[in-house]
Amino acid sequence: MKRINLIEFEDFSWFPVWLRNCMTNNIVVMARWLGVTETLHHLILKVLSSHKIDKIVDLGSGSGGVLPDVIQQIRSLDDYEMVSLQLTDKYPNQQKAHDFNADHSNGIDYLTSSVDATDFTRIPAGLKTMVNCFHHMSPHQARTILESAKDNREPLLIYEMGGHHVMPFALWLLSLPVALPMIFCLALVIVPFVRPMTWQHWFFSYLIPLIPFFYAWDGHASIARIYDLNDLDQVLLGLECSSYTWEKGFAISSRGNKLGTYLLGLPES
Ligand SMILES: C[S@@+](CC[C@H](N)C(=O)[O-])C[C@H]1O[C@@H](n2cnc3c(N)ncnc32)[C@H](O)[C@@H]1O
Repeated sequence: MKRINLIEFEDFSWFPVWLRNCMTNNIVVMARWLGVTETLHHLILKVLSSHKIDKIVDLGSGSGGVLPDVIQQIRSLDDYEMVSLQLTDKYPNQQKAHDFNADHSNGIDYLTSSVDATDFTRIPAGLKTMVNCFHHMSPHQARTILESAKDNREPLLIYEMGGHHVMPFALWLLSLPVALPMIFCLALVIVPFVRPMTWQHWFFSYLIPLIPFFYAWDGHASIARIYDLNDLDQVLLGLECSSYTWEKGFAISSRGNKLGTYLLGLPES
């Protein structure tokens, strides 16, 4: 397997909540800029149009990512007005949860209690999505998730926006001196676009740059941790069956470029 199980600071339970939230707020801006909204819109609509699903349960939601934007767009289409989105995380972003839960009209809510993606039995029914989250799972956990989806005939969509950048580990190491400063600088550029802006985000980006430091490490470590298409084949070994289909590949942006990778598991309807 090409994937290397490097550490990411945001995985540690001792990592400050506010710092994790600032980092996942940065990811939202980044994903919007890259055009992940349109890419996910296309993937999710494909599932909703072939299967009778009106609830999406997102795992590892962080600050929500771009899924709330996607759901707003989908709900504006005829026949999809009733589609709802439930955001969950092992370390829920309570501020975002408060904001999403305050508005009942948009079909989006955020569970305030911890939901571990590896414990499928405790996750509400619906299309499970894991956006930029699956790389946090060890191969054993990844296998358990895929196996549970198949055994319970639950639809599952996994998406990684950095999936088309996975490189051999030696190259990843060589790229460190360039990649880390680049992502660090990017984290500084992102700040004015973060919503809601908090004093911590500004202070710990520009005056004491803790956020750019951790964002750069975790961001680059993520690339080494992503399961590329061959790694996914290995995790999927023995999980093929006639009543549940797996489809994987590069996701495509609205401009026609590769933008990440996806794995879609669907029960035969
Ligand atoms: C890189 S962030 C992605 C957040 C969001 N999905 C997005 O695209 O912006 C990964 C998220 O996965 C969460 N996470 C990590 N391990 C998890 C687990 N075992 N169960 C649920 N969430 C987990 C982290 O707390 C973090 O919010």
